[in-house]
Amino acid sequence: MISSFATQLEHWYKAFGRDLPWRRTGDPYLIMLSEFILQQTQICQGMDYYLRFAERFPTAESLAEASEEEVMRLWQGLGYYSRARHLHAAAKRIAEAGCFPRDYSFVRALPGVGDYTAAAIMSFAFGEAYAVLDGNVQRVLARHFGISEPVDTTQGKKLLRALADEMLDRQHPALYNQAIMDFGALQCKPSSPLCEACPLAETCQALCTHQVDKLPVKSKRTAVRDRYFTYIYTRTEDGKILLRRRGSGDIWQGLFEFPMIESDKPLTMKKVEEKVKDILHSSLFTFHSVASDVRHQLTHQRLHANFYCLTLPHANDEMVNGQWIEASDLDRYALPRLLEKLLEKMGESR
Ligand code: ADE
Repeated sequence: MISSFATQLEHWYKAFGRDLPWRRTGDPYLIMLSEFILQQTQICQGMDYYLRFAERFPTAESLAEASEEEVMRLWQGLGYYSRARHLHAAAKRIAEAGCFPRDYSFVRALPGVGDYTAAAIMSFAFGEAYAVLDGNVQRVLARHFGISEPVDTTQGKKLLRALADEMLDRQHPALYNQAIMDFGALQCKPSSPLCEACPLAETCQALCTHQVDKLPVKSKRTAVRDRYFTYIYTRTEDGKILLRRRGSGDIWQGLFEFPMIESDKPLTMKKVEEKVKDILHSSLFTFHSVASDVRHQLTHQRLHANFYCLTLPHANDEMVNGQWIEASDLDRYALPRLLEKLLEKMGESR
């Protein structure tokens, strides 16, 4: 039996749902690609990336064969770079399998695929009855059914999972899943939801009990860590710059950056200049500040960046742990978005 909740959502979706390129395809690889891109990214930001990836890598095989550098380069600016590495690894597994298996266990076991992404792929690509449960769906369900249990506890998650499975339209899982997600994104928004014009207002528990702005409840507030990064854009008079690749175990694994000093509090310019002198054993350089306290927010970290420009007469081997490249080749390297912002401030946008 299809619930009237599902029917009303589908009705709403047919009138107001978004026409998005990955909704026009039944190709599981392209659907997977869109879901990886949209995992932490707004549609308006992800759209261009999806179109570029789909054009450059139209099949899992073509992506599987690409170099990691090319994949990271195309992903550059989207953030959360582990998604790109997982996507690449997932494409390799699919290419090895010969075709995209219509098999939940296979899909769920792909790198970077959790419950949500597996349900999205199985339902959108194969029409299989798996209910998606992302932040949008959580909110719609918690409000409509008046769930005051915190959604981030074991108990709350269980309750919502059961409700999500119960509400799913098993005859039309793709339609229903897209409908409830779009309804959460466009109508039942986190703040200022459009309750006056809501087709589900009559049966909405949160609306009846004036709890719309209280639901869903979250039990934890995640702590945000402040980190202070001092970047030294190091160049030579003959047009070389110094670049380093970030290692594993921290943000931006595998991306490139300029020499950087991390500290627990901001370093003064004087202190940075002293450090540069110590490293170079020379005072044959010019040094100036480009930007200070440029902030960059990640999920659990707030970065504060200071950006300096150091000009040396020629490439200096004292500057260890990096490679000298031609400044004009910088656009071949994937950099974190923060560094793109800093380069723009220096007037050296790419
Ligand atoms: N966010 C994540 N997946 C999505 C999809 N398929 N459509 C719209 N928004 C999404």
